[in-house]
Amino acid sequence: MVGQAIRPDRGLIIPQGTAPRPSAVSLEKVGFVMDFTGKTAVITGAASGIGRATCDAMIKQGIHAIGAVDRSAGIGDLCANMNRAAGREIMFPYTGDVTSDAFRQEVYRDLKMRFGAVQICVPAAGITRDRLAVKVSKDTGRAEIYSRKDLEDVFAINLIAPIMWAMESVASVAEDRNRRGLGRWEPAERTQGAIVFIGSVSSAGNRGQISYATAKKGLEGAQATLATEAIYYGMRCSIIHPGYTDTPMVQALGDDLVKNYILPQTQLRRLLRPDEVADAICFMLRNSAVSGSLWVDAGWHPAA
Ligand SMILES: NC(=O)c1ccc[n+]([C@@H]2O[C@H](COP(=O)([O-])OP(=O)(O)OC[C@H]3O[C@@H](n4cnc5c(N)ncnc54)[C@H](O)[C@@H]3O)[C@@H](O)[C@H]2O)c1
Repeated sequence: MVGQAIRPDRGLIIPQGTAPRPSAVSLEKVGFVMDFTGKTAVITGAASGIGRATCDAMIKQGIHAIGAVDRSAGIGDLCANMNRAAGREIMFPYTGDVTSDAFRQEVYRDLKMRFGAVQICVPAAGITRDRLAVKVSKDTGRAEIYSRKDLEDVFAINLIAPIMWAMESVASVAEDRNRRGLGRWEPAERTQGAIVFIGSVSSAGNRGQISYATAKKGLEGAQATLATEAIYYGMRCSIIHPGYTDTPMVQALGDDLVKNYILPQTQLRRLLRPDEVADAICFMLRNSAVSGSLWVDAGWHPAA
């Protein structure tokens, strides 16, 4: 009996003997690599560093529209400049705090009204509040512990917000499918969308980063759970763990710390560039075979 195969580009069942050989047909064509053409994305933290570089990379790869979210007022001018350079309106700026439910809902309402479902989400906004978990004061001799307020602020921005923004994207695709009378996603339909959470090498533990490391590790649980649920609607979910990257977040640590602590423990002996991380994020978004975590860490091997 002749075997059968699904042709993802057409959704047809065809005899295996006539199925296109992988070498003969591009991965984009058969739908194993998600084409950005016609897709809408939300990127938070889009005004700086990794978020901004991800916008750049997506534009180069043909994305239709990006909701560029940041609390920095500079996001408006940045979008205008990028649109001018691209020769069309791709970047749509939204200024606000990612922890606000009302702001997030308004962003999605507006994007859905303009473009329909928001199939791609990279929630990159993040902060650090680094300090030892327990530190003995030289003045009083008393051991002070890390503040609850800083824990909660870092969790709100680095853990809870990315989950909320990612779920909102899945919801937009789920609603869109429901409206079109589509139930459980079938592989022949091609991937509908994707999420990449921004973890960190610090998720494995890092001195002075009790709040940041915990939040980034927490994203792994969110990724693993959302991956199992979102695929019902044809959406994939993964997490990238970048190493130290040359952005304002790391520049704020100062040259001495970078030179004496970070570079000696990094095999490449240099900081990553934001566009290197963005390139990996786009790869993870587009390639359907990617799931789980990708460590993009320049060979970060801290001493105990
Ligand atoms: N730079 C690194 O070495 C590194 C390594 C691993 C992971 N990361 C992660 O990558 C992501 C981007 O970091 P980056 O290095 O590009 O930082 P960055 O400081 O250059 O950019 C972060 C952006 O997030 C925005 N932002 C922060 N809080 C916000 C809020 N509440 N609402 C809206 N916008 C807010 C800031 O305005 C800023 O534009 C973060 O999640 C960070 O934890 C960075």
